[in-house]
Amino acid sequence: MTSALPRAAPARFEVRVLPGLESLAEEAAREFDHAVSDALRDRVVFRVALSGGSTPRALHERLAAKPYRTRIAWDRIRFFFGDERCVPPDHERSNFRMARETLFDPLRIPSDHVFRMRGEADPPAAAAEYARTLASEFARSRSGPRFDLVFLGLGPDGHTASLFPGTKALGERVRLVVANYVPKFREWRLTSTYRLLNAARRVVFLAAGEEKREPVNKILKREPGWRKLPAADIRPRDGTLLWLLDEEAGRDL
Ligand code: 6PG
Repeated sequence: MTSALPRAAPARFEVRVLPGLESLAEEAAREFDHAVSDALRDRVVFRVALSGGSTPRALHERLAAKPYRTRIAWDRIRFFFGDERCVPPDHERSNFRMARETLFDPLRIPSDHVFRMRGEADPPAAAAEYARTLASEFARSRSGPRFDLVFLGLGPDGHTASLFPGTKALGERVRLVVANYVPKFREWRLTSTYRLLNAARRVVFLAAGEEKREPVNKILKREPGWRKLPAADIRPRDGTLLWLLDEEAGRDL
């Protein structure tokens, strides 16, 4: 069941600092719950792009537990990914595997409600394939693929999704998904581009830990060098942006 009364529309830009990872996960779960309730008033299906990395684990585990496990209309949610490492889906570094273990399996999400990026395939071909998947899943959307909600993480270097400083994907203005070579890791990644991420109705960053403090300060306080950080260019064109930080990452705000 969801709250019947519509909530006030979320602010276009907001930063919340929470006391610790658990409360950050709870706040993110509440945001997810609200976003689903609001969207399903107008649309049949809610489409979310999940973030990779380790921070979202706590959110996924929170969503898979009460009250969210029973309160959210999971059958009306379709799951996508903001990025993926170019590894097989059962690889320990796979973002899909992390989500499967912490969210899809515990909630028994049907596999045809999950759209993973095929990290095991040739990177450019996998990126093009995912773009086709998005085109198909959002075929009825007049404005093209537009996620109801996108979760993003933040790297110590200011990257988000797999948009790393100095990489080619940062300049992509046409395609929605690309293969992006990351020299610092000597590996390929699959990533959403700014065009796709900034089309979202709502983007929520999750950042926790001391190592995120510097990029958070640079981006949110516009400190020198902030323009070089890829996460700084996440600004939904016609949507809202929320930064959820723990006390270590948000200490100086
Ligand atoms: C990935 C993510 C990446 C991640 C950040 C933060 O595939 O690694 O998409 O952008 O969100 O690197 O990762 P942590 O949550 O592990 O700090």
